[in-house]
Amino acid sequence: MTPTPQTIRDEAARRRTFAVIAHPDAGKSTLTEALALHARAIGQAGATHGKAGRRATVSDWMQMEQDRGISISSAALQFEYRDCVVNLIDTPGHADFSEDTYRVLSSVDCAIMLVDAAKGMEEQTMKLFEVCSHRNIPIMTVINKWDRPGLESLELMDEIQQKTGMLPTPLTWPVGDSGDFRGVLDRETGEYTKFTRTDGGATIAGAETMDPARAEEVEGDVWTTAVEESELLELEEQNFDYDEFRAGKHTPVMFASAVLNFGVAKILDTLIDRAPAAEPRLDRDGEPRPVDAPFSGFVFKVQAGMDRNHRDLLAYIRVCSGVFERGMVVTHAETKKPFATKHAQHVFGRDRDSVETAYPGDVVGLVNASALRVGDSLYVDEPVQFPPIPSFSPEHFMVIRAKDPSKYKQFRRGIDQLDHEGVIQVLRSDLRGDQAPVLGAVGPIQFEVVEDRMVNEFNSPCRLESLPYTLARRTVKDDIPKLAKERSVEVLERSDGTLLALFSDRWRLGGVERENPGITLEPLVVT
Ligand code: G4P
Repeated sequence: MTPTPQTIRDEAARRRTFAVIAHPDAGKSTLTEALALHARAIGQAGATHGKAGRRATVSDWMQMEQDRGISISSAALQFEYRDCVVNLIDTPGHADFSEDTYRVLSSVDCAIMLVDAAKGMEEQTMKLFEVCSHRNIPIMTVINKWDRPGLESLELMDEIQQKTGMLPTPLTWPVGDSGDFRGVLDRETGEYTKFTRTDGGATIAGAETMDPARAEEVEGDVWTTAVEESELLELEEQNFDYDEFRAGKHTPVMFASAVLNFGVAKILDTLIDRAPAAEPRLDRDGEPRPVDAPFSGFVFKVQAGMDRNHRDLLAYIRVCSGVFERGMVVTHAETKKPFATKHAQHVFGRDRDSVETAYPGDVVGLVNASALRVGDSLYVDEPVQFPPIPSFSPEHFMVIRAKDPSKYKQFRRGIDQLDHEGVIQVLRSDLRGDQAPVLGAVGPIQFEVVEDRMVNEFNSPCRLESLPYTLARRTVKDDIPKLAKERSVEVLERSDGTLLALFSDRWRLGGVERENPGITLEPLVVT
């Protein structure tokens, strides 16, 4: 039976689609598993979060990721909690994959900023925060690792405010300093939730909730200190305000220990009670697409399948309106061609299962999606195109050549595939020819991924050679002759047709601009 518009609106209203942003090692994998555990999506967490040599997390799948202990790929985890459906989109942890993260963040309605209590606001956290803020994504903050000695709670609040400009509005306040995590004060009810350790945090941590009088009896001065600090926050009006949170001016804060599963239930409850549901998305013209309109969605990630023996191409779609039903034929907005969705999947790590139905806020992985690119839109009946997802400006450049020229076909196929997925930007010019294209990356680890995949997946070992450029500017065809006269400047064409002029540094760029007034050299801005 086809769902009614009311059903679709109800389903959208119970979706919570979010990502966790954090500096590497802040505990993102641990928290992901802890959240899933609480929602009973998987049997056991805590002891299973993965580093090299241990059982990998459900989100770590590539061999390279496991070796390095970082998460390169992005996937979506879905679970039910209370009466809601939670979609947790995994983001790559390493700064070199910020472009990928940026794309992934275009699919979420909210972000959890995970902060290590001992380290405060780290560099990568700040970068990711800026991306969220750019995209007007509301942010909740979780201070993690409170079980370990770290900074003071009030000091952390000051740091968040100074560095992000958002006013921290703690929902919970820790009882006990960092390193002595006894429980949390719920700033809205005034109650105390006392945590009890369980073996390795492998099951849901024990939690007992009590009234303030009992809390004082149990914890004495430690409780009183927490109450006093909470009152200080009250004086500064650091209290939750939904509108300010939605506007990115406030960030609600919670304290947790992901590894001990302390405070994790509160994070889930807050997501359900306070985070925005799937709402109408704006199209390219700024018009909202109602959630109960016919099906629509956009591609936020394209990725090769995870099974080494059967590499297929997966496109991750964020559903924006209507209902997605496996097998339905949708229209690819960019080509107006039909696209059959026989093989639609939920994807998280190695586990895939077929998705039959998906609603706004959900993520669907479409298999054999070689026609789809990041930013493309899909719809049924009423045409729609969602805003494009811009590319980052590359800052590292290398020429790539096949080690074995007789394997040129494999080489070509590999480069095209990696380009298509957006693993790297491929730049070409007549001068360099197709045998030796230039690769542009935001971070150098992207080259390692290319090398690894060219060998293991495309059977085409290759040689990479650095180029002395660090800066790219968009230019136009008419200006190519002027640029050709300049020394150490090169113009290349990206596969989306953009012409990029490459410079060694900004002084060289400045020199060229001075010598050629009126020349088009625009920054590749992320909007
Ligand atoms: P990431 O995905 O953000 O990179 O971080 P990950 O979850 O892998 O956690 C990084 C390290 O921090 C891990 O320790 C993990 O056990 C630890 N950790 C995560 N949450 C907490 C917490 O709440 N409290 C404490 N004390 N530690 C936490 P590791 O030594 O790198 O690995 P392992 O030996 O635990 O596997």
